[in-house]
Amino acid sequence: MYILGMESSCDETSAAVVEYNDGKFSVKSDIIASQIETHRLYGGVVPEIASRAHIEAISKITYEALDEANIKLSDLDAIAVTSHPGLIGALLVGVNFAKSLAFANNIPLVSVNHINGHIAAAYLACEDLKPPYLALVVSGGHTNIFSVEGYRDFKIISSTRDDAVGEAFDKIGRVIGMPYPGGAAMDKLAYEGDKNALKFPSPALKDSLDFSFSGIKTAALNYINGANQRGDEINRADLAASYTEAICSGIVKQVDGAISLSGHKTLVMAGGVAANSHLRSHLEKLCKERGVRFIYPPINLCGDNGAMIAAAGLFEYLDGMRADTSLNASASDDGN
Ligand code: KG4
Ligand code: ZN
Repeated sequence: MYILGMESSCDETSAAVVEYNDGKFSVKSDIIASQIETHRLYGGVVPEIASRAHIEAISKITYEALDEANIKLSDLDAIAVTSHPGLIGALLVGVNFAKSLAFANNIPLVSVNHINGHIAAAYLACEDLKPPYLALVVSGGHTNIFSVEGYRDFKIISSTRDDAVGEAFDKIGRVIGMPYPGGAAMDKLAYEGDKNALKFPSPALKDSLDFSFSGIKTAALNYINGANQRGDEINRADLAASYTEAICSGIVKQVDGAISLSGHKTLVMAGGVAANSHLRSHLEKLCKERGVRFIYPPINLCGDNGAMIAAAGLFEYLDGMRADTSLNASASDDGN
């Protein structure tokens, strides 16, 4: 069967065709129209501009996705669309486009939670992945650890109490002069510095498995402001290396705790920050020590994309979930 996945929750408009046969996924196309260059001018995503850019791109990329997959609309068995969480105006574009396409052409529609979509990217990367497993979601908007107990059954183990890890990278990246979003540039720069040069507070809370990134972010800002006031030169590479080390160690600590708590023998890492090479090697080491299998999607499936929404939508579809014309977008994690 063929499923069209549509994503417009933030600053990427994406449409993808995924084929599912005999329990196996195959990505036939995954077209992504990124708005990063547009938002870069402002140092972050401007919601109103994002919504307008989604409107301009969505029809074109949908037909591009069908063309590249070499199928027609009538070949689709289902359309899956991100309905939550995200920027409300941006989500509404995808939801309304998908509703029109589905109901005008009599194609079943399913609604997908964007976070579950990130996790489902792992099924595209790893054919034999099956629940139960532990999932770490690290993105620009989320930092969570879930116990995934079924294809549609997610128990939350850990959340951030404030900022997401991607925001923590992007904010400090911006202050030291990197273009938005700074995450990938921070990743690269960290190789050139000494990870022990500066001490930052851990984002891992002591009394729970939750995270807080506001302390480390403020500590880095104070360090930068202090150095600027004294007229001292900042060693950007040492800052990036030490900051990355503190973030990675904090995540490792909480994932270690979550492995003990859940007893799961597989860890999936997903979301835009799953592209971070330092985090990958820290977690690889932890998983080796703990005898846990470690799975993460290739970089093109870590950031927002339609294929991951199609994969998550497939499990919704197989369980009989269907969205009707009343489907609405929601900014919140639980879709309410
Ligand atoms: O999943 P995503 O595309 O969008 C959300 O759902 O939020 O994640 C975007 C985030 C941005 O904060 C970006 O800086 C970060 O992923 N990111 C990285 C890397 N590549 C992307 N952060 C750290 N290291 C990277 N290599
Ligand atoms: Zn995302």
